[in-house]
Formats: sequence, C-alpha cells, structure tokens
Amino acid sequence: MRHSRHIDAILPVAICCFTLLVSGCGGGGGGTALPPSFTLTATPGSVLVSPGSTSIPVQLSVQAADGFQGTVSVSLQGLPAGITTSPAFPVPISAGGGQAVTFTVAGTVLRGNYNLTFAGTSGTLSSGAPLVLTASGAPVSAAAQDFKRQVIYQIVTDRFFDGDSSNNNPPQSPGMYDATKTNWQFYWGGDLAGIQQQMTYLAGMGITAIWISPPADNIDVPANLSGTSYAPYHGYWARDMQQIEEHFGDINNTWTAFDNLVAAAHQNGIRVIVDFAANHSNPNDGGEFGALFDKGQAFASYQNDPAPPNNLFHHNPTITNFNDPFQLQYYTLDDLADLNQENTPVDNYLKSAVVQLMQHGTDGFRLDAVKDVTWGWEYSLANAAFNAGPTFLYGEWDISGTSDPTYLDSVEFSNRSGIALLDFPLANAMRDVFANNADFHEIDNTLDQEDSDFASPNDLVTFVDSHDLPRLLSLYNNQDRLNEALALQLSCRGIPVVLYGDEQYLHNDTNGGNDPYNRLWMSSFTTSTTAYQLVNLMANLRQTNPALAYGTSQQRWINSDVYVLERQFFNDVVLIGVNKSEAAAYNITGLFTALAPASYTDYLNSLMGGFSIQVNSGTNGNNPVTAFSLPPHTVSVWQSSSPATSPELGSLGPRVAQAGLTATAGGDGFGSSPGMVLVGTTAATVQSWSDSSVTFTVPSVQPGTYNIAVQANGGATSNSLPFVVLTGKQVPVTFTVNNVPLTVGASVYVTGNVLELGNNAQSASSAVGPLLLVPGASSSWFIDASAPAGAQIQFAFFQVLSDGSIVPEGIFHSYGVPSSGVGSISVTW
Ligand code: NOJ
Repeated sequence: MRHSRHIDAILPVAICCFTLLVSGCGGGGGGTALPPSFTLTATPGSVLVSPGSTSIPVQLSVQAADGFQGTVSVSLQGLPAGITTSPAFPVPISAGGGQAVTFTVAGTVLRGNYNLTFAGTSGTLSSGAPLVLTASGAPVSAAAQDFKRQVIYQIVTDRFFDGDSSNNNPPQSPGMYDATKTNWQFYWGGDLAGIQQQMTYLAGMGITAIWISPPADNIDVPANLSGTSYAPYHGYWARDMQQIEEHFGDINNTWTAFDNLVAAAHQNGIRVIVDFAANHSNPNDGGEFGALFDKGQAFASYQNDPAPPNNLFHHNPTITNFNDPFQLQYYTLDDLADLNQENTPVDNYLKSAVVQLMQHGTDGFRLDAVKDVTWGWEYSLANAAFNAGPTFLYGEWDISGTSDPTYLDSVEFSNRSGIALLDFPLANAMRDVFANNADFHEIDNTLDQEDSDFASPNDLVTFVDSHDLPRLLSLYNNQDRLNEALALQLSCRGIPVVLYGDEQYLHNDTNGGNDPYNRLWMSSFTTSTTAYQLVNLMANLRQTNPALAYGTSQQRWINSDVYVLERQFFNDVVLIGVNKSEAAAYNITGLFTALAPASYTDYLNSLMGGFSIQVNSGTNGNNPVTAFSLPPHTVSVWQSSSPATSPELGSLGPRVAQAGLTATAGGDGFGSSPGMVLVGTTAATVQSWSDSSVTFTVPSVQPGTYNIAVQANGGATSNSLPFVVLTGKQVPVTFTVNNVPLTVGASVYVTGNVLELGNNAQSASSAVGPLLLVPGASSSWFIDASAPAGAQIQFAFFQVLSDGSIVPEGIFHSYGVPSSGVGSISVTW
C-alpha cells in the first residue's frame, strides 16, 4: 500500500474520509498527482523481553511516498509503567530514515502481552505501527524447590508445534510420521524446537513452568499390536533414557534441542519439568520388545533377561486388580516391560537418568505411574534427586477419589517420600461438577478430606484436563464451564497445571474424546481467548498475592451451583465466587470474608462477568459482605495483599531430607538482610536470603520431625512448618522374613532403630508395611523399603492383628545397609 496508514484508535473518522478520498482518486482521477504521504513501520511486530535484559531492537522506518520530505515525530502509546525504551519517545525520524528501539522491562511489570502503538505525525499526516510487547518473568537464576507460586502448562511435545522439520522422519526410525495428522498413533512433527519457538506465546500467558512429555529416546520401530501400528509419539516407551528422542531433538539423539529449550525458557522465567517414567521401558509384545539401551549401548533385554535375582525386569502378568499392592508394584502395566528397580544396575540407570536431566537444567519431574513402581524404591529415587540438587517432584497416583481403596496408600506415600501428587481426587470432583453439573459439595468435601490428610496440601498438583482423560469440552461442550473450572482451579490450593490447548478450547469428541483424541494438534496460538487471559491474570496473581500459593482454604458460601472460596495467608486474602448455573442468578446473603472492610473490584476486570463488592466491618476476621446477586456463568475474584511486617512461612521444600542437603523456605516478610533458620532450636547455615525465599543447609541434628521457623534479622520469628530430617542418604532395601507364624487376618510390619523404619515403634502408622506375601510362598513376607545408606541397623518384624493388637517377633536382627546400590536381607521369624 502506498498511502499512509492512519492510526485506527486515534483517527477513525479521518481514516474513513481518507479511504474514500483515495478510492475516489484511484477510480477516476487518472493523471492527478497524489498528495505526499508517509508510512511508518515497525519490524518485527512483536518482541519478547525479560526483566534485566534488553530486547532485540525494533526497527522503525518511515517510507515516503509522492514526494513527502518532512520529519515525522514518532511517539509511543500504551507503554505501561516499568517499561522503558532507548531512545526515549517522542523521536524524530526523517523521511526515508529509520530508528532502532530497544526495551527494558522492570521486574515489577506483570507478565503478559502489551499492545503498543508507534504513532507518527507530520503536520496533518499520520501513520501508526502496532507492536505487541510480551513481558516475561525474570530469568531463572537458581533451581527451585518451592513451586507453589508457579502455574504449570502441560505440553505433549509431539502435538504442540513443529519447529524443525528435519527431524520429522528420522533415518533411524522412519515411517512413523504422518504429515496429514490423521493417524492419531503416529508422530505429527511437534518437537522441542517448536516449544522454544512458541516462547512468546507461553510467556504472554503468564505461566511460569512447562511440563513436557517424556523427551527420552523412544522405540525406533512401531509396536504392531492387534493389527494397529503404534508409534511412541507420547514419549512413554523409552528405549534409551540417557539421550533425547530424535523426533524431538536431532537425528544424533543429542541434548542440543533440549538445552536450547531450557535456556530459552529460563531466560524468560519459565521452569522446565520433565515427565519421567521409571516403571517400564516399552511394550514387551511389539516394537523393540522392552529392550533398553544406555547411550546407545545395549543395557537390558526383556526377552533375554538373566534369571532372578539378576533380572532387570519383572516378568509377571498384566495388572488386573488396581487395588492390590503386589500387582500394582510388581505386575505389568498393560504390556509395558516392567523394570526391576531392586536390581543395582537398573537402580543406577534410572537415578543417573534423573541426575543427568537435572544437569541439563531440568527444574522438576512429573513421575509417571508412581502407583505402579515399587513404592519404597521411589522414596530413594526422590532422595537421589534431592541429593543432586534442589528440585520438585510430583507423581501420578491415578485414583478415583478419596474413597478409592488406595487413597490412604497415596497419602502415606506422599507424606513419607516428600513426593507431591497430582490431585486426582480433586480433578475428578471438578470434572463431575463442571461437566456433569454435580453439586459443589463434591469439590468442597474433597478439599476438606485431602487438606486434613496430606502433610502439604498446597503442594498437591491440581488439574482439570490431562493427556489421559477426555477434555472437559468433550464431556460437556460449554466454554463458560471450562473457564469457570480453570478459574476455580487457579485459585484453589495446590500448584495448577493447565493442559495445552485448553486455553484455545481445543477438543475432538471422537470416541468420547478419549486418548488419543484428547491429544490434538495445537491449531491456534491466538492470545485473545478468555481462557488465555484468565490464565495470565491468575498466574500473575499467584506471583503477587501469596494467599494463592501458601494460604489456607475456607469455603465461605455454597449451594449446588455456587462456590465461594477464600484463601488466606496472614494479611493476604483472595476470595473467588463462581456460579456455574446456565440460567439461575443467586442472591448471596450472609457472606463473610477475611478481606478488610473496603470496596473491592473484580481482579479479573469483568473478564467473566465479575463486579465489585463492599466489605463491611465485622469481628475476628469475619467481615460481612453487602448482599449481591451472582448471575449465571459468573466468576469474580476479589483480593488484597499487603507487605508482611514480620516473617510469614508458607513453604518448605523438600519436606524430607538428610543433613547437608539444601532446603528452601518460602513465604513473605523475611526481610532483605539475612536472619536465621531454626530447625527446632538449631540454627541452620543460610545459603541465600531474600524477602520471600531463603535457602539453607539441613543441619546435623538427630533424625526426626522438626518445626522449622524463619527468624528475621531483627529477631521477629515466623510461624513454623514441619520438616523430616532423615538419617542419611537413602538406598532401597528388600526386607524378607520367613516362617512367619501368621495369625489369620493379621498384617506383618517391619520396624527398626532408625527413623526410616519407625524408630522401633511397633505401630502400623510408624513402622513400614504391611509386608507382601512372597510369590509362591505361604509364610514368607517381604517389602521393598528405603533405608539410610551405610547404616548398621537393628530391625524386627511384628504382626498387627485384626483387632489392632500387636504380636512382636521378640528379637532384633542386625543388618549393614550398603552405602550405594540396593540392599537385601532375608531372615527367619
Ligand atoms: C500414565 C501416563 O500419563 C500415560 O499417558 C502413559 O501411557 C502411562 N502412564 C504409561 O506410561
């Protein structure tokens, strides 16, 4: 276009007139000279800037037309406080000239997309050029253990974005790529470079972490199962956990694409969580038949496995009873070659894979199928990860709800190991409420139950959709409901995960939207959807108001359609009201809040129909809210946050570790100069100190549970949180006891003189167990547990009878736990 482009926002009438004039000229004015004009352009049209770094320059240029010769004065509109430019505007640019502009973003600027306009004027002429500036988070400077202020975005790498077409059909694993994206079991081209190329989209959404599907090298030939050819596009069928899959990186299986992604994510304040499957290698009945490699060298053959006890795999039937602890841990999940973690080479292989990922910058792990891996071994896996450096772990313990038969096992697993869990009970309740229109009490009851059972409910990892479940929109195709579910999840206690594409309302309802139809191609990256903006707002709120990360939860008003939830951390409060009804407005009377008396606007800026409320003065943190009507399909968020005046402790991570390891205390008001961290009465060595985060070394104290508090430099001391100091580094140990004179209906437990075995307590809640019957035996029992490396321990077994009474073994056995690898001890009762 030759003529100047006027600024829509400023001169809509002029545009209209000028357009008419131009078309008039063009239509019949042959030979008439056109008036001079200019066009202002900005290249590129979008820029990503992280605090502390300077952007790549945006090049402004003024193109003159029809003899224009003046100087254009360019101003910049829409620049929020905290973003500065070099040079400062307005800037004169002469006809035919240009100007490079760089941006600097302060750390206080909220993450997100800012629509700016360069506006050029010269006399009566004008031209505008738009620029989208995306402000990301500050670069990640250190590994984190406290993820409670994070919002995680889950990506199935193969289905997100194709950033490198050269890896689509690699020579070592040809024929598994479908360019038409119609074969749902083949690779579609998404890769690590693709995620990196969408960094602006991710940063603009405000998310602070990505969870990527397993990047490990997967089988090179498809598994032909029941006549269908399956490629491992999802990443759960590893052939070599020590290198990167060629479809996601490069054909030499190097770490380059992974390292580049991590560097780009970290530069923009986004942490990288890797999905890691320790349960299995790959299908034992097709493809590569379970075979596993170590950096390209043969490591384990399922089909030619040594005899026990040197077997690298378990060769048991497929799990049929998902409530049977023996089947869960030692049987085969579907047809996936089940690794024998109690074999030293396998133990080393898996732990070194995790450590290597950490060395490549991985910030946290989503541990696949933790219910199906040996539970005690996983305690030692968590410890191995924490030994390698600060990290965050959360596991997939797939469960229907809090009355599921393995729910209490999941609670014990998480509380003892320090591994957080994906919150399946809450996800199922949320899906029931928002898709099936169930009563909000289902969510409320689930929160109550879990909050009283889990040691750290704020560490539960919440989700609404996942790559294993039909998307909510496939269950009930109503975008309002998805928005409402996300808004509640993002306000709720726990670390929220948003599944890729939910913010684009992606769904495919074939076969009820079940896998693989929930793993759609990410077809759009528009930033204008309500869900994208909602995630941005709530992710920023999680950074600015500690109530979301660390707060308590209190239901303040409920009926079948309405839920009003309050989160509170000292003086920080977030109150969210949701009405999921299609048609009914509800009068909200008798609502109380901890928000101080004042008027509060909707933090979501009416994105979902929200409005202001008036809080009046009451007593004891119960302030009455002036009654209001909550219309159908409305979400409103009211919040307040004030700087802490004394230390407020919200988080410890990890919660379980031995002396010498690094732990992080998260919270508010710690002050800028270092004070103390008190582990019981012992002062820990402080490694780093900021107002909201302190890292310290776990001191050499007697193993046990301690209250930890943060003491500010001036002496003010925070509330305390519990922390378990282990005896030492953990190794897995199999305890077996033979000839047990079992009383009918009794369970067998093991106790011992170390914290890990219950400090000799003969009670089911402190000791380790119940033990499982050794396969094929009638009186031999065993358990895979975790014990302090190198310790000389005394241990004993006991029975808990059905009436709760105890039958002790009566003697103690001695055992020297190995200092590395795995241990095993078998004794006679
Ligand atoms: C659970 C994962 O989420 C699922 O997608 C996978 O197929 C199985 N575990 C086996 O790895």
